[in-house]
Amino acid sequence: MIYLDHNATTQVLPEVFEAMRPYFCEEWGNPSSSYRFGSKLKRVLEEARGSVAELIGAQSREIIFTSCGTESNNAAIHAALRARPERKHIVTSQVEHSSVLTAIPGIERNGHKTERLANTSNMSFPGMESEAMLLLLDQAGICASSGSACLADSDEPSHVVKAMKPDSGASRHMIRFSLGTQNTRLDVDQTFAALRNIIATLRPNP
Ligand SMILES: Cc1ncc(COP(=O)(O)O)c(C=O)c1O
Repeated sequence: MIYLDHNATTQVLPEVFEAMRPYFCEEWGNPSSSYRFGSKLKRVLEEARGSVAELIGAQSREIIFTSCGTESNNAAIHAALRARPERKHIVTSQVEHSSVLTAIPGIERNGHKTERLANTSNMSFPGMESEAMLLLLDQAGICASSGSACLADSDEPSHVVKAMKPDSGASRHMIRFSLGTQNTRLDVDQTFAALRNIIATLRPNP
C-alpha cells in the first residue's frame, strides 16, 4: 500500500509507540492526581515537555500538550488573542480546517476584524471524475483523497476545494495527495505510474 493521505491521519512511528508503551499499559495514572500511582508520572510528563522544548528551541513552560487538533487550534487562536489584546486584526484563510473556520465568527463578535486568504494546491484531472480515480487508485493500493480529509464520504466538494474557486465543475476532478515522513521517492514514482494507467483507462475516447 502507498499511503498519500497523511493530512487525514498518520501512523504512530514504532519508536514513538515503544516509548509510550509503559504509559498505555502499566503507568497509566493521571499525573494531576494526589495518589502516587498518578502523581509520580508528573516527572515523566515534565521530562517529555523538556525534550519537546529542546527539539524546537523553546522553553519547557511554553509547551502545552493537547488532546487533538481542534483543541490545539482553539488554544493557539485564543491564547494569541489574549496575549496581545490590543491587536484586533486576524489574518486567516478560507482553506483552514473547519475547527478554525468555526472559531472565527465568535472572535469577530468580540470585535476582532478578520481577513481571509486562499492558498492550497490539489491536482486536477479534467474530464475525469475524482471519485472514479480514487476507486482505481485504491485498487492499485494507493490511498489519496478528494480534498475533504475529515468528510471523505460526503459528495459535496470540501470548503477547501470551493475556496480555490475552480472553474465550474472542476472540483469534481481534483485529487489531493498528502505525503508523510515515511513516503519514498518510489511511492511517488509508482503513484505517477498508476495515474498514467488510470488516465488511459478513464480518458474519454476522442
Ligand atoms: C489542520 C487540522 N486541524 C484540526 C484537525 C482536527 O483534528 P482532531 O480531529 O484531532 O480534532 C485536523 C484533522 O484533520 C486538521 O487537519
